[in-house]
Order: sequence, then C-alpha cells, then structure tokens
Amino acid sequence: MNHRAWMRSQGFTPEVFDGRPVIGIATTWSEFAPCNVHLQRVAESVKKGVWQAGGFPLEFPAMALGETLLRPTAMLYRNLLAMEAEELIRANPMDGVVLLSGCDKTTPGLLMAASSVGLPAIMVTGGPMLNGKYQGTDVGSGTAVWRWEEDLLAGRMTEAECAFAEGCMARSNGHCMTMGTASTMASMAEALGMQLPYSATWPAVDARRYETAQRAGQRIVDMVENDLTPDKIMTRDAFENAIRVNAAIGGSTNAVIHLLAIAGRLGVQLELDDFDTLIRDVPTLVNLQPSGKYLMEDFCYAGGLPAVMRELGGLLHTSALTVTGATMGENVKDAPTWNRDVIMSMDQPFQGAGTGTAVLRGNLAPDGAVIKQSASSPHLLKHRGRALVFDSPEAYHRVAADEDLDVDEDTVLIIRYCGPKGYPGMPETANVPLPAKLLKRGVKDLVRICDGRMSGTAYGTVVLHVAPEAAAGGPLALVKTGDWITLDVPARTLSLDVTDEELAARRAAWTPPRRTATRGWTWLYTEHVQQADTGCDLDFLRGKSGAQVGRDPH
Ligand code: FES
Repeated sequence: MNHRAWMRSQGFTPEVFDGRPVIGIATTWSEFAPCNVHLQRVAESVKKGVWQAGGFPLEFPAMALGETLLRPTAMLYRNLLAMEAEELIRANPMDGVVLLSGCDKTTPGLLMAASSVGLPAIMVTGGPMLNGKYQGTDVGSGTAVWRWEEDLLAGRMTEAECAFAEGCMARSNGHCMTMGTASTMASMAEALGMQLPYSATWPAVDARRYETAQRAGQRIVDMVENDLTPDKIMTRDAFENAIRVNAAIGGSTNAVIHLLAIAGRLGVQLELDDFDTLIRDVPTLVNLQPSGKYLMEDFCYAGGLPAVMRELGGLLHTSALTVTGATMGENVKDAPTWNRDVIMSMDQPFQGAGTGTAVLRGNLAPDGAVIKQSASSPHLLKHRGRALVFDSPEAYHRVAADEDLDVDEDTVLIIRYCGPKGYPGMPETANVPLPAKLLKRGVKDLVRICDGRMSGTAYGTVVLHVAPEAAAGGPLALVKTGDWITLDVPARTLSLDVTDEELAARRAAWTPPRRTATRGWTWLYTEHVQQADTGCDLDFLRGKSGAQVGRDPH
C-alpha cells in the first residue's frame, strides 16, 4: 500500500498495478546539454509505446553531459553517469529500461550502466541536428568550428563573420551532425543491436524520430516478456560488427575507448588491437564530414546505417541478435541505398580498405596509441621530425601565435599530461590548431602526438590516446624538445629515437606531477581510472552485478 499510494499521488489510476511490467525511461536531458534538451519530448513518445504495449512507463533523470559546457571535459563524468544510472536502474523497481541519450558521453555512459545491471534495455538516441547552413553552403557542427578558428587566427575571417556563422551552425535540436562522436556512438548503439534500425540517423526534428521512439516503447515491453537482456545482444560478434561499421562510416576514434569500456562491463574479450586487425579489409563507404563531404541529414536520406550494414554484407556477423528480436541480417537485408555519392559501394568505396583507425606501438606508446588515417594527411603518415614539447594545451596556446616559435612543417608537436589521470579526464585537446606562423605560410597539417583525445568532428594527422599516459609515467613524459620522433603508420610504429640508457636516465630524473584533487569525484576518478587502451573505466566498475539489491540471504 505504501508503494502504491505514493505512486497514485501522481494521478495514476489503480489499474497501473495490474501486473504490467514497469519500464524505466532514463533520460539525460538538461538545459546545460543542448544536444539532449528535446529528450523530454522523445520520452513522451516512448511512453505512448509502452502504454500501447501494456507496460507502465516511469521516466527518471540521469546525468546530462553536455560536451560544449562541462568543465574540464565531459569525459571526466562519463563513468559517473554510468555509475549513477547503474544504481538507479538497479535500486528502482523496474523490469526493463529505455535509455535516452544524444550528446557524446551520454550514449556510452548509459550502455555501460545497462550492461552492468543486465535488465532488458533498449536505446533511443536523440538524433542529429539538421545540416548547418552558412553563405549558401552546408556546414558541419564541430568540424566548421575548427576551420573557422584557424581562419580567424590566420586573418581569413573577422570576428563579426565568426559571430554570424555561429548562429548558422547549430540551428535545430539534436546532437552534432557531422560523423563526430555523438553520431558515431549512436551508430555504434545501432550496430551493436541496441537500438532500432534507422534510430541513429533520423534527424532530431524528424517525425520518424518520434515514431521510432514510440516503437522502442512497444519493443521494451516485449523484450521484458522474452527476457532479452543486453548480454544476449552485445556479444563479441556484435562488437566486431560495431568495429567494422565504425570503419565503414569513418567514425570517431572515441568509439575505441567507449566500446572497450562497454565490453569491459559485459565481460566480452575485446582488445585495442581488434580495432586495427578487424578493419583492415573494411573500406570507408560513407562520405561524411570530417573525413568527407556530407552530413548526417544527408546520410539519413541516403539510406542510413542499415544501408551501410547491408553493403558490408559478408564482413558482418549477420546472425547477431538485436533489440528487434530479429537478427542484424534480417533487419537490414532489404535496406535500400538512395544516394551513391553519400553511401558508396564496396566496389567503389569512398576510401579504400584499411584507411580507418590504426593502432600504433613502439617505445613511445608501449600500450598503444591510435590514429585516424582517414582524417590524416597522406604525406604525413610516414614522417620523421623533431619534437616540440608542451606539458599542457594551455602552455601551447600561450605561444601558438608567436612569430618566433621554433617550428616548421616537419615539427612533431607533442601535447602531454592530457590523459585520463593527467588533466584529469582525458580532454579532446590533441588536435590543437597549428601555430599561426605556419598557418600564414599555408601549412595545413602537422604531426601531433597526445595522450588525450581528439573530437570526432576534428581532422589532422594526430596520434591519440598514447598509453601509458605521461602522468602515469609513460615514455611520453620523457620526450625533450629536439628529440627525433618517427611515425610509420603503415608499419604501425611510433618511436622516439633515444637510446634505452638515455631514457632510463631521464626516467630516474622524472617526478610525477602533483595530483590536484584531494577529495570528491575527481579524486576518486584519478585514483581508479584505467588507461585508454582498456577504455578509461574505473577499475572497480568493470564487470556487472546484476539487477538484485540488498543483502545476500546466504
Ligand atoms: Fe553534443 Fe557535439 S556537442 S554532440
């Protein structure tokens, strides 16, 4: 009676207690997270579907992580969202859960949470914004920002022009509409089988986004009846599908970290090297920014993710189960492609096989580093140059406009102490703009190396996720300005041309940076966060605990 009476204070009739499954709707909306602000309306559509199918929907908030506003980086809080949502799903009396996400970290955070609980779960991402429009051309959120920032530094754009342009870019509800991290992770959720076909690509304001949300509400009731849990869907096969799809769509390098973290929750064996070996025969099929020309709205109208998955055909495990109750192969077998300039064919791909993420190793990255080949300059993929080292992105920004900066087009720019423990939170600082001196000379790219991340909307020859990070004592901490560095992407190596004896001497003289956080979440995070090569989860959050609460009666 206690439970029922308080629920009835919301105006529910007693019939809601007639044995219906209770469906939680975890929503990550906030006015501080503009990409997710419309999830309130998406939740209303989910509820319609749950009611239609005979369930009892109850919406609850989970941390909204807005990429553009959260300091120092939303990545510092992905694990906090995952921990909060996990406990909420477990502690509240629900039978299944619908996960509403959008902005970058909200999708992996909720998938990690649902994986650790194990109740039936279905995801509905909020969808991308409409294409940005500026001076008669399409502009991509994020990607255009990087270009305009460089144009402003180089004097090609005025501040007034920049102010006008910013209003043209993000002009509707939704997450970034380039193939950045949000679009990538929405696609990963669909490729993993955790959201309904086409969910990743319907624009946020498209009526079909709301129709799909309603269908997800119907499906979760059926999934509860059939005990269709995340571990039955997100198997090793499903992760292999997702990794290959990520290569085919030219997805973000951030997917590497997030997929490793989700797999770690489920106990699926997934290694950093899988992201290289599994994609060597996968061409990039989708011509989307930042690697290509088009945007998510175009991708949607061209056929969306099912068209890509159908095109990949035999490269995928078509028998992988999905939230539809059918296999991935059954879901996409009739998916049409409407525009071959956006979704290209296996015979005539956008970029040839093996142009996706490469995993590098060497004495500078013993546990690995990654580079997005499709966003790199081909002439820099084999490169030898002298290091110019900065201990923070801020230190670099202070001198980036200096005409006397000792830098040329062969320089290898190192930005370090940006890893999970170092910053902390592993911000997207790796793709720093080029020095103004080089931009004015028309230099378009420079090899950059960082233990941080790069926005999925960015481009450039940038080596990322160097592990172990500098703050954890990785060799990156031992590099000195003037050292020779050799990058050889075809050979998958990244090496510092310094003898082992010299490195040992430098290590003996190295002192770890002082940790600034002494309490609270940031302290907990820096004490327990794992390195990029395993997904940056907290060590005590890996694995799962099931849906039961309370003491073990035994
Ligand atoms: Fe939210 Fe790009 S800022 S998805």
